[in-house]
Amino acid sequence: MKILVINGPNLNLLGIREPEIYGKKTYADLVDLINETGGELGVEVEVFQSNHEGDIVDKIGEAYYDADGIVINPAAYTHTSVAILDALKAVGLPAVEVHISDVSKRESFRQISYVRAACETSFVGLGLEGYAEAMRFLYDLLNKKSQTALDK
Ligand code: DQA
Repeated sequence: MKILVINGPNLNLLGIREPEIYGKKTYADLVDLINETGGELGVEVEVFQSNHEGDIVDKIGEAYYDADGIVINPAAYTHTSVAILDALKAVGLPAVEVHISDVSKRESFRQISYVRAACETSFVGLGLEGYAEAMRFLYDLLNKKSQTALDK
């Protein structure tokens, strides 16, 4: 089983960026947490970060051929990107949305999520731990799906 974790713009600046909102842990700490969680679950993990919308769209398209599910924090593109929504819908892989901060309690423009319509669920406001929760959720979901396929 392979889980692809995608991070959008400015998440490479974790630790520097508005620590009162996003915390003091760095992007490298996040990658470590994701890899550790993958190890606990016994799954292959790929972590991808880009500040460019088209690169994220390309990565989702490639995932069709080599991943079983996607955890995605599209960052600011959450609130603007029909292209990322369409890419997730196009590949049809189970996807889970993550936000480090509680976007529901922030500016009104952050209340809109285009990608949510293509995601199974969202983990919001749990800090970096939200990624681990999202990976566990996706792992359980993928196992259930493969069991259902076997039962048929
Ligand atoms: C974010 C929330 C977004 O509104 C913001 O643009 C980000 C990070 C989060 O993880 O809390 O870049 O996705």
